[in-house]
Amino acid sequence: MAHSRPEILTADTAGIDRAVAIWRKGGLVAFPTETVYGLGADACNGPAVAAIYQAKGRPGFNPLIIHVADLKTAERFAVFDDLARRLAAVFWPGPLSLILPIVPDSGLSPLVTAGLKTVAVRIPANPLARRLLGQFGGAVAAPSANPSGRISATTAAHVIDGLGGRIDAVLDGGACGIGLESTILYPASNPPALLRPGGLAAEEIERFLHHRLARRDDPLHPLSPGQLATHYAPRTTLRMNVKSPPKNALWLGFGPDCAGATLNLSPKSDLIEAASNLFSFLHRIDKQAEAEGKPLIAVAPIPETGLGVAINDRLKRAAAME
Ligand code: TXA
Ligand code: MG
Repeated sequence: MAHSRPEILTADTAGIDRAVAIWRKGGLVAFPTETVYGLGADACNGPAVAAIYQAKGRPGFNPLIIHVADLKTAERFAVFDDLARRLAAVFWPGPLSLILPIVPDSGLSPLVTAGLKTVAVRIPANPLARRLLGQFGGAVAAPSANPSGRISATTAAHVIDGLGGRIDAVLDGGACGIGLESTILYPASNPPALLRPGGLAAEEIERFLHHRLARRDDPLHPLSPGQLATHYAPRTTLRMNVKSPPKNALWLGFGPDCAGATLNLSPKSDLIEAASNLFSFLHRIDKQAEAEGKPLIAVAPIPETGLGVAINDRLKRAAAME
């Protein structure tokens, strides 16, 4: 978007209208929550989600939290069982993110969850955030609004200081009340697991559940690896940097020189487009390889710049799973 970046939006109807308009066009708007400022984009718009990773300069694709205005909207994207519903009733809106199964065909970009089958979701308590999300109507993917490796932003000035030139706008709602990220809970394990301590004390959740949570480093209630964000990996062997694939391979292309590729992440060599296609194309090509009995997925070279670093990081992990 051609304007001086970022626009600073005021905490009123005009500011909210503008933020929603930017989200609908696929732009990036930082907004306040009760925990920290989030760097938000439409969670169903793949290139917009890719732009979040690009703006943060993250060297990998960590799954993101989706933010919604109400439970009805949350249920369009995440599957709530009885326990999840009770947790939501007690602790939402508030600083608790629940890791829940994704609703099939929810429309969420697979880049939001880095290809996982679960999604982190929360309803923030900040009234401005809820008005904003309510008017948007959908899910907003938002990591903390800081460059990778820096501390989270709790004022609009922090956001501008860290990400100023890389985002479209920041909605200035003053300082965040809690100043600490949300608590992340995985309710489906037995016992439910605390994946990240945060703004809601674990003891409060334990009092409600009448049970101790599983935690990292807790010998009595350890976290099993399956409860952590394990990365999606294709079942078929994957090889990177392949310029001319062997006959027994399916070819995942990148750029204009990949005539004959099974799928092309971005024929015009656009890394944002490639990132937004990455997880869905990996799933598709893996399925096709299995169906056709092909033992190898060959991936064309991807430049190690910008989002290419995160794409290559993901492919390296997949290649190492052989
Ligand atoms: O308070 C907060 O949570 C802030 C505000 C903006 O809402 N957001 C935030 O997002 O802290 P971020 O991206 O900095 O941290 C999200 C964390 C990551 O550590 C990620 O690994 C975890 O959530 N996460 C997201 N989806 C997950 C999933 N499906 N399974 C396990 N962990 C997940
Ligand atoms: Mg963060």
